[in-house]
Formats: sequence, structure tokens, C-alpha cells
Amino acid sequence: MAQRTALITGITGQDAAYLAKFLLEKDYRVVGTYRRTASSNLWRLEEMGVLDRVELIPMDLLEMTNVVRVIQKVRPSEVYNLGAQSFVGVSFEQAVYTSQVNAIGVCYLLEAVRALDGAARFYQASTSEMFGKVREEPQNEDTPFYPRSPYAVAKVYAHYMTVNYREAHGLHASCGILFNHESPLRGREFVTRKITASLAKIAHGQQDVLELGNLEAKRDWGYAADYVRGMWMMLQHPHGDDYVLATGESHSVREFVDKAAECAGFRLAWEGEAVSARGIDRASGKTIVRVNPDFFRPAEVESLRGDASKARRVLGWQPEVTFEQLVEIMMRADMDRAARGRLLHLRF
Ligand code: NAP
Ligand code: GDD
Repeated sequence: MAQRTALITGITGQDAAYLAKFLLEKDYRVVGTYRRTASSNLWRLEEMGVLDRVELIPMDLLEMTNVVRVIQKVRPSEVYNLGAQSFVGVSFEQAVYTSQVNAIGVCYLLEAVRALDGAARFYQASTSEMFGKVREEPQNEDTPFYPRSPYAVAKVYAHYMTVNYREAHGLHASCGILFNHESPLRGREFVTRKITASLAKIAHGQQDVLELGNLEAKRDWGYAADYVRGMWMMLQHPHGDDYVLATGESHSVREFVDKAAECAGFRLAWEGEAVSARGIDRASGKTIVRVNPDFFRPAEVESLRGDASKARRVLGWQPEVTFEQLVEIMMRADMDRAARGRLLHLRF
């Protein structure tokens, strides 16, 4: 069989690093698109040991001519659209930009695939954020959407656009409605990585306190490596379709903090309620976790829990890493980074 070519947008991101490694192991030619920036941000590909095996090509989802030419030049057999302004918090302040990248950018890409010959299989990174103010629990492919942020609204547009190109133009196009998935390669602005990096710095005497927003928000957190396998499985199925990928378990931010603190060698006692809540290290009596209202969102997604039974039934997909294992993997990696002085002080 001829070698298959995968084009991954957003190659500098978390998921792309795991997906690139996964596809290279399956002998794909992997081409990744990146935005030109003043400083290089290829550290994730380097950590995965695949930097020299991925072909890199500059492409911005905001520039339609660029998108079209990249598709024509690469002639991919599979396109994984992972590029996005992916931070929900920022989308409230950058609503127009987020819409242009996460919604209109996807339309450019679908048009480019259609214009080539429509043969490339297409994966769109849809999200559990689309369920927002949830209408039922757990959420599956038939649960109505109620997006709660500009990020999620733009993703709903991209989701239905992908469905429409499948139905109207016959594209093999699939949407993965993925619940939160994390790893040691997660961006530091997301809550899980913020927690593990900060607790590692506190344990190594490099930081005093971890400040968080809504401790009661609940998410269905899985491991990124499990989820990129699911993306690939969707494109191997004879027909494009939409699938939820999730663990089926939901935990609060506070539970994540408790488990991570335990892995970092702390035992926390909680005092106070809501914005006055504090996590106190029992051994030293010091407050190491507190709430800062700056980190609350104008509209919150309170609780998400996914039902991935369709992906299990049709694709044979299921997650392998549990919540406890995920926290341990992330905490271990950040303790190691902190020990080597590799964690910058960031205040997101
Ligand atoms: P990530 O680490 O934030 O990566 C996003 C990627 O998109 C980065 O490479 C980023 O480039 C790129 N990007 C941003 N703006 C772009 C633009 N204008 N043109 C081209 N590329 C652009 O996100 P991730 O966690 O890997 O997530 C991958 C995708 O899945 C995203 O679409 C996200 O919305 C979606 N998703 C993620 C999760 C999750 O829990 N991780 C769940 C559901 C859906 P820079 O490095 O230059 O910023
Ligand atoms: N980032 C952040 N920082 N979130 C906090 C904090 C904080 O200090 N304190 C509490 N939270 C809460 C947020 O309010 C939210 O309810 C929850 O923690 C998770 O926030 P994030 O880790 O930023 O992720 P997200 O759920 O908003 O979005 C991620 O998952 C989506 C899938 O559901 C992103 O990866 C999205 O791109 C993805 O679509």
C-alpha cells in the first residue's frame, strides 16, 4: 500500500504532538502546519522525540489562500484539523478573533479539501464545551448543544459546517466531540497543568501559593494519548460520522487539586467557602491554595460528563488511563521539571 500522508494543523499543540508520534509509528508521512511566530514553540514535538520526522509547513487558518495552497501542495490522504484558539477563558475577550480561527478557518479548510478532489478524509476537533449548560447527563452525540463561551459558539459552527460538507458534498468528514484530555504537554493556562506545575514549584520552594478560580467546576478528564488514537480510528471507519470520546467519570477541580497535592507529598485541609476557600498544607500549616475571583469566567460550564458508548461500539475505542493515573503522570513530569529548574513562573 502507498504511504499515507496526514496533514495536522496546529502541530505545535498538545494533541498534535501525540498524534504525530502515533501516526509516525504507523508509517504515515506526517506534515504539520504551524503559525509563524517570533520564537519557536516546537518543544512538544521535541519532548515526544519526533521533531526531526515531521515535515513542517507554515500556515495560518486565517489566511484562506494559504490554506488552499497548503492542501494543494501536500495532497493529504487525511487531514486532522487541530488548530484553534483553544483557551475558553481568553475567548471572552477575543471573541472575534476566536470566531475567525475556530469557525471561519474551518470553513476555509473544508473548501480547500472539497476543491482538491474531496478525497481526503477530514477530522474536526469538536468539543464537549459545545454542551455548555448541559441539557442531560451524561452527554452523548444526540445531546443538544448550549454553548457558554465565544470559543464554544465558534466550535458549534465548525461542527455543523463539517457535518454539512459530509452531507452536501460527500466528504469523509468526522467530528470528534472530545471531552477534556490532558497530559504533561498540556498548556500551562489550562487548570490541570496549572495545578501540577504550581504544586511542583511549591514542593521545590520555587512558589508560595496556587491561585485558582471555580473549585467546584467538574470535568470528564482523560489522557491525550488515548484520545488521539480515537481521532485516527474515526478516519479509518468506512464512513464519516460524529463521536463522543470521554471517560464517563467526572471530577471537580478541587478533587484534582487534592489528588495532585497528595502526589506532590502534601496533605491538604480545606477551610472557608467559595471565594474564601483555602487549601492548607497540614504539615506546615501554610496556605498553598487559594481562590482568586480573577480566574472565574463570565459564564461557566459547571459540569461535564461524557457517554462514549457509540465510539466503543462502532470503533472499538476506549480510554486506558484512569483519572488517578493521569494526575500521577502529570504530577511526576512536573516534579521532574521543577527539580531541573525548568518551570518558569507564570501567573495565568
Ligand atoms: P493547543 O495545545 O492549544 O493547540 C492548538 C494549536 O492550534 C496550536 O498549535 C496553535 O498554534 C494552533 N493555532 C492557534 N491559532 C491558529 C491559527 N490562527 N492558525 C493555525 N493554527 C493555529 O490545543 P489542544 O489541546 O492540542 O487541542 C487541539 C484541538 O482540539 C483544538 O482545536 C481544541 O480546541 C480541541 N479540543 C481540545 C480538547 C482538550 O481537552 N485538549 C478537547 C476538545 C477539543 P500556536 O502554538 O502558534 O498557538
Ligand atoms: N484555566 C483555568 N484556570 N480554569 C480554572 C481555574 C484556573 O485558575 N480555576 C478553575 N478553573 C475551571 C474553569 O472555570 C473550568 O470550569 C475548568 O476549570 C476547566 O478549565 P480549563 O482547564 O481552562 O479547560 P476548559 O474545560 O475550559 O476547556 C478545555 O477543554 C475543552 C473540552 O471540554 C480546553 O482544552 C478546550 O479547548 C476544550 O474544548
